[in-house]
Amino acid sequence: MAERTGGTPTPTAGAAPACLDDFAALARAVLPADVWDYVDGGSGAETALAANRAALDRVAVLPRMLAGVEEASTEAVLPGGRAALPVAVAPMAYQRLLHPDGELALAAAAAAAGVPYAVSTLSSTPVEEVAAAGGTVWFQLYWLRDRALVADLLDRALGAGCAAVVVTVDVPVLGRRLRDARNGFALPPHVTAANLPGGRDDLAHRGTPGVSAVAVHTGAVFAPAVSWADLAWLRERTPVPLLVKGILDARDAVRAADAGVDAVVVSNHGGRQLDAAPASVSVLPEVVDAVGERCAVLLDSGVRGGVDVLRALALGASGVLLGRPLLWALAAGGRAGAQAALALLAAELRDALILSGCPDPAAARGLRTRIGG
Ligand SMILES: Cc1cc2nc3c(=O)[nH]c(=O)nc-3n(C[C@H](O)[C@H](O)[C@H](O)COP(=O)(O)O)c2cc1C
Repeated sequence: MAERTGGTPTPTAGAAPACLDDFAALARAVLPADVWDYVDGGSGAETALAANRAALDRVAVLPRMLAGVEEASTEAVLPGGRAALPVAVAPMAYQRLLHPDGELALAAAAAAAGVPYAVSTLSSTPVEEVAAAGGTVWFQLYWLRDRALVADLLDRALGAGCAAVVVTVDVPVLGRRLRDARNGFALPPHVTAANLPGGRDDLAHRGTPGVSAVAVHTGAVFAPAVSWADLAWLRERTPVPLLVKGILDARDAVRAADAGVDAVVVSNHGGRQLDAAPASVSVLPEVVDAVGERCAVLLDSGVRGGVDVLRALALGASGVLLGRPLLWALAAGGRAGAQAALALLAAELRDALILSGCPDPAAARGLRTRIGG
């Protein structure tokens, strides 16, 4: 991702991060170049990746004055219950690439901050261990070719106490991530797909010049042709809130709501899947119009601070998923780093709410917006 411009200068060496973007430079300094690229990169020409940020920056929010708001609460309702912020940690694969404590560190930071943590199917720590770390844990499901394995994963996640299931529907195949292909990116031996014993893990470790081993691995284990019938099957088997992640077209949001999901996550996967996809925030209003009365709508992709959370709320979202900034913070400082990033986000959101005359996130959903500043 291009370094941010327009008002977020790079921090001086040794200075404490003043915004979430500041964690990027700290992470880049400690990560191997190919791991940095795996996290930072998008697919193709990285058009969708850049579009996320550009579109968020164009959303202006009209603050209300003389509202008499002295203090704001950041508490919000997310699928499955209340959270300290209208934010959940996005599911992100292989977190032991970033730090030896990987998923356990980020899940502990989320628990301390009072926000849900979504554990990926491609977690490098088994779901049972992550769920045992405390806090609210959601399970993110990728549809695998082997239906019995999907059922087993789901049973394991529910048995471990996961409070919601997030099914990701925008990865029939992995997007063409050119940085990973050029780097011949493969997982180091200590990082494994810990939820998928015997799941062709070897493929993700086999480095070949010009080929992403992670893409080869997902190609072998992910089911490309998931359908609405599969979603109905999943709804049937999921007694906890079910979220569908990766929706962009409002017609799909309507079908998901018809299928009885509790939330849709409007997402272009952080610009990592279809490079021609729109910025997720640009289609958020259409999705809110189509299904906002029937289920929760969350925004993901490009969120970098409290002001972005305010933008999402003002456009009608119930909350956001936060991705890469937490991986940067994890790389930079493990659990403490991730906790610092979440504390910063909470402080930013509180200030953004007060500046907008809103006592809480629910009030922010009544703010007006202008696209284009
Ligand atoms: C390194 C990395 C790994 C990811 N792994 C997963 C995953 O396993 N499952 C999933 O649903 N999304 C995955 N995503 C996408 C995130 O859940 C989220 O949609 C995206 O990061 C949001 O964009 P942002 O990073 O710009 O905030 C991953 C993203 C990154 C950066």
